[in-house]
Amino acid sequence: MKALVLREIKTPLELAERPSLKSSPGAVVVRMQAAALTRRDYWITQGMYPGVKPPVVLGSDGAGVVTACGDGVDSAWEGREVIVNPGLNWGDDPSAQSAEFTILGLPRDGTFATEVLIPASQLHPKPAGWTWTEAAALPVAGVTAYRAMFAQGGLRAGETILITGIGGGVATFALQYAVAVGAKAWVTSSSPEKIQRAIEMGALGGFNYRDENWTKEMAQQAEAPNLIIDSAGGAGYAALVNLAAPGGRIVNYGATAGAPEKLDLFKVFWKQLRLQGSTMGSPQDFADMLAFVEKHDLRPIIDQEFPLEEGNAAIERMASSPQFGKYVLNIG
Ligand SMILES: NC(=O)c1ccc[n+]([C@@H]2O[C@H](COP(=O)([O-])OP(=O)(O)OC[C@H]3O[C@@H](n4cnc5c(N)ncnc54)[C@H](OP(=O)(O)O)[C@@H]3O)[C@@H](O)[C@H]2O)c1
Repeated sequence: MKALVLREIKTPLELAERPSLKSSPGAVVVRMQAAALTRRDYWITQGMYPGVKPPVVLGSDGAGVVTACGDGVDSAWEGREVIVNPGLNWGDDPSAQSAEFTILGLPRDGTFATEVLIPASQLHPKPAGWTWTEAAALPVAGVTAYRAMFAQGGLRAGETILITGIGGGVATFALQYAVAVGAKAWVTSSSPEKIQRAIEMGALGGFNYRDENWTKEMAQQAEAPNLIIDSAGGAGYAALVNLAAPGGRIVNYGATAGAPEKLDLFKVFWKQLRLQGSTMGSPQDFADMLAFVEKHDLRPIIDQEFPLEEGNAAIERMASSPQFGKYVLNIG
């Protein structure tokens, strides 16, 4: 089998020939058809993720066909088209993952390969009518947006939501979910073109977070957001605390711009705000997310497809975030 292997931090992934995988008790081999990139893959290649131990095959997102079932696995999985839930060992507590929680693609070899070995408990049927590209693009971003918005953020129809950095993979799902449940969605972006794309998808409008007046503009044009979904943090976080409606929730699933420079706790308590963290999702969140996207007939937004052999080009593009939606590697 072929795999894109990280041998050393800050060096290109190496396309390696490896022995074919064998199933093991409770686990199956999936012949991958497509894999998608997440920012985690990029952070890992840059050495900006804890616990990087090369060599490792990167990739958390993927979809393919089950080719071999290990002992104890229902043989009905063999030949099935599946997507993989990359969150392993969540544990029993819906409110937070266990200490054993890991994500496919470090430390366990991931999806940037023609074959993946994965516990059968992580499998879900590929949604009917979806392309391989679409199926591969769903797992990490789809479940992260779902848990952040619903399990943690409690978004309801008619509420106002602000989604920051709309070009991001998670953010594009968040916008689709918000529109699907009848929320009033606003976005931020560094790119006017991405704001326009968001409006075409149903956002009421957007603001450039690099423009220092953007919060004033938003306060004039939009209702104060009941829910803010953010993955940037950094200096811009203070503005989110200012903008949130009284009783509002700010959910962070990332901190691309680092720690907030300041946190005005007076505003936090006076406005009765809830500041909430969120990471990927439980097995229940994953199943609920799949049911949600199928019920609302949503499809992942794909920015660009690459052959597996050109995975390094896709990772390099992530450095400057020109994308709107997901980068996908075609494997099959
Ligand atoms: N906790 C979890 O489970 C989880 C899961 C997935 C991702 N994450 C984290 O969430 C973040 C986004 O992940 P992703 O996969 O969606 O990334 P992505 O597809 O690479 O998106 C990155 C986007 O972030 C936006 N951005 C960058 N700097 C910003 C800033 N200062 N303010 C507002 N937006 C900014 C940009 O949006 P524009 O192009 O529109 O400007 C950019 O397109 C990363 O930090 C990632 O590690 C966490």
